[in-house]
Amino acid sequence: MTFPASLPSPRTPDPRQAPPLRWGILGTGWIAQQFTTALQQNTTQRVTAVGSRSQEGADRFGERFGVEGRHASYADLVADPEVDVIYVATPHNHHHRDALLALRAGKHVLVEKPMTVDADQAREIAREADERGLFAMEALWTLFLPKFDVIRQLIESGVFGRIRTVLADHGQHFDADHRIMDPALAGGPMLDLMTYPASFAKWVIGDPVDVVARTTWAPSGVTGQTAITYTTADEAQALLHSSVLSRTPTTGAICGDAALLEIDGDFYVPGGFTLTDHEGHRLRYDEEEVAHTGGLHFQACEMARRIAAGETSSPLRTLDATIATLAIMDAARAQIGETFAEPSA
Ligand SMILES: NC(=O)c1ccc[n+]([C@@H]2O[C@H](COP(=O)([O-])OP(=O)(O)OC[C@H]3O[C@@H](n4cnc5c(N)ncnc54)[C@H](OP(=O)(O)O)[C@@H]3O)[C@@H](O)[C@H]2O)c1
Repeated sequence: MTFPASLPSPRTPDPRQAPPLRWGILGTGWIAQQFTTALQQNTTQRVTAVGSRSQEGADRFGERFGVEGRHASYADLVADPEVDVIYVATPHNHHHRDALLALRAGKHVLVEKPMTVDADQAREIAREADERGLFAMEALWTLFLPKFDVIRQLIESGVFGRIRTVLADHGQHFDADHRIMDPALAGGPMLDLMTYPASFAKWVIGDPVDVVARTTWAPSGVTGQTAITYTTADEAQALLHSSVLSRTPTTGAICGDAALLEIDGDFYVPGGFTLTDHEGHRLRYDEEEVAHTGGLHFQACEMARRIAAGETSSPLRTLDATIATLAIMDAARAQIGETFAEPSA
């Protein structure tokens, strides 16, 4: 195909038009605060309740965000009749337990990434949601951003020709006392950060037939930096890297034999990208690189629209895609000997 004259426009519906759901926030940490801010600033979604391990935690969050239902346990939150959907925002190795708690109380769930620590746990959530006719989705917010809808249309258009390679990286430097350095909370780059590069590669080129992984370890006993390469059945390759020891470019690229897409770092948030071909054509997508509060709401609005339409999943992030991404990371972990702790009581 010939190089396009302009980029397609994002088809992302107006977040303010999504029918409001009543959200219950499970866990009151950093991402729960970002998510609630994003909903309150950009949508008509209602945050009606919050659950914390302590009354103090629930009250603090409730005060700050004007949330009326303030529960001193997650069990009380999921039982709240004023809640339609639970947003699970606890550490990774708690997601499985907390999502099942919500589903068994009859609530839809949006579960922070990674949905679970491995593919088997995610399959269990998928089964539970399916049996109950409830909506369950991983909060992989990247794929719901307008920028990614433009990229989606470019992939569908065939502009890349044959896609040979996906390059993606996510590295940040964390202090030794951060949650991500704690083996008890399933720390290390794999679940927290590699989820983005791995999901991106799976989204563009599909599943591996062959995975190779290498890691180096951090002093606290979690993995420090990890590289994964994989090959698909039609011989496309993914080169993925993730680190908690250093900041890295955190860019993403789709390399086809007809065109190249380079997504500015941080590739997984709102921001820009450049499309070029071998003949010097160039198109640039620019938008403000806003932080999480400018993007976490798109996934929630997609969910609200689907639930209002009686649906239990979104094609933008299916449970099959979540499970397949976790399976890539499971295969990598088997090679590097990375295991995760059970959640604390
Ligand atoms: N989408 C994104 O861009 C993004 C960004 C950051 C994090 N995340 C994801 O969100 C999840 C939470 O990350 P976070 O950075 O928000 O973590 P955080 O600030 O440590 O918050 C986690 C919350 O979970 C609850 N919790 C339950 N059991 C806990 C335990 N044993 N230790 C610590 N906290 C416990 C606590 O809330 P209560 O005390 O109120 O119960 C705590 O505030 C992770 O899975 C992470 O991957 C996503």
